[in-house]
Amino acid sequence: MQIPTNHISLATTLRNRREKLAKLINFPAILWSGSRSSRNFPANNFPFRSSSHFLYFAGLPMEEAVVRLERGKLELFMDNAPGSSQLWYGEMPTRDRLAEIINADAAFPMQELKSRATNAATIPVQNPTTKITQSDILNRDIYASNHPTGIDLELTKAIISLRLSHDAMALTELKQAAAVTIKAHKAGMAATKDAQFEANIRAAMESVIISHNMTCAYPSIVTVHGEVLHNEQYHHPLQIGDLLLTDVGAETPLGWASDLTRTWPVSGKFSPTQRDIYDVVLAAHDACIAKVKPGVEYLDIHLLAAQVIAEGLVNLGILKGKAEDLVEMDAHALFFPHGVGHLLGLDVHDMEDLGDLAGYEIGRVRSHRFGLGFLRLNRPLIPGMLVTIEPGFYQVPGILNDPEMHQKYQDIVNWEKLEKFSDVRGIRIEDDVLVTENDAEVLTQELPSDVDSIEYSN
Ligand code: GLY
Ligand code: MN
Repeated sequence: MQIPTNHISLATTLRNRREKLAKLINFPAILWSGSRSSRNFPANNFPFRSSSHFLYFAGLPMEEAVVRLERGKLELFMDNAPGSSQLWYGEMPTRDRLAEIINADAAFPMQELKSRATNAATIPVQNPTTKITQSDILNRDIYASNHPTGIDLELTKAIISLRLSHDAMALTELKQAAAVTIKAHKAGMAATKDAQFEANIRAAMESVIISHNMTCAYPSIVTVHGEVLHNEQYHHPLQIGDLLLTDVGAETPLGWASDLTRTWPVSGKFSPTQRDIYDVVLAAHDACIAKVKPGVEYLDIHLLAAQVIAEGLVNLGILKGKAEDLVEMDAHALFFPHGVGHLLGLDVHDMEDLGDLAGYEIGRVRSHRFGLGFLRLNRPLIPGMLVTIEPGFYQVPGILNDPEMHQKYQDIVNWEKLEKFSDVRGIRIEDDVLVTENDAEVLTQELPSDVDSIEYSN
């Protein structure tokens, strides 16, 4: 494990975080990092990623480790690697060394944990093996992290309130992730001219991330089929006339994420129809970013994106009617079926392991409406919150060819006109926007999204 050079400020940050937690709960909390999953034999593993709740308080991506937090104190539980593992993995930092780096108040071997687990709350990790251990150590059934009860629910709410607003150390990390992500996108754009397949662009982009000793915060989306929202295929050829959608983000070694999308023409030049739709999405993107500031409801930002997109599509003759009415009828969602964005932090969809507990203000529940059901964040914005703004336009066959949708929006969509836009399968423009004390800061601002830059960066 690489020990960060700024570990003194890391230790101070970790102490602040646990002291803040102590002000919110009066019982112990135990958080597990999780363990590796084996792919076939024990030493051939899927990549390991510590649980984000653990990382928030432990700071370092330790494996098979646990922190116990009580009244502002942190106890680290982990076993030292056996001497025999040095042959395969080299020397590992010891428990005591790690405890020193993160300024733990005490450190114990794992077998001591059970005796320190009475009346402790936890958050279940995603790894099923560790979840069994959690139940065993706490001597009770551990429920899904999106349905906590009792002290687990209290702990979950406390951690959400801390993680919703990023501290200085988190912001330093998030800005580093954003900076490398911007370089990756620039590399992707520069590689397009000579690339043959999506995979070539993916390689160019991820190679920047890897060469900064970072990892991808989520599976990269690099596709000429942007209408598949989380497309993970990279085998399609790049053809003149295609739009290439790249949604690629870096994660720092300490686990902080970036999430950035651009869409550009493979040829370097938009067709008139592609440009028309790009302008609509860009107008929604710009209007939404201009609206970000403390106190603003994220739902209203989503509705603004829907409104601008509906208006733009009316102007292009694709939709018929008044934008407000179209949004009311969810007609925008025919082409913009997802939410305008989400929380960003240690995870790309930060804290979504907790279901909507983090994304939705207490008392609010997800709408069943077609145009609102995929909205992942429905809270007033607060300083220190990092959100994505990512409106899009997609022609999803599963939506547009659905007989029920066709019937419902029969007279609202000019289907003949829509056919003229068949060279626009998917466009998304996404930036990471930090809510500041009075305003907003776009962490990914340095990567342009205007047509001139997008067209001529190739
Ligand atoms: N970057 C993928 C997403 O936001 O869902
Ligand atoms: Mn996103």
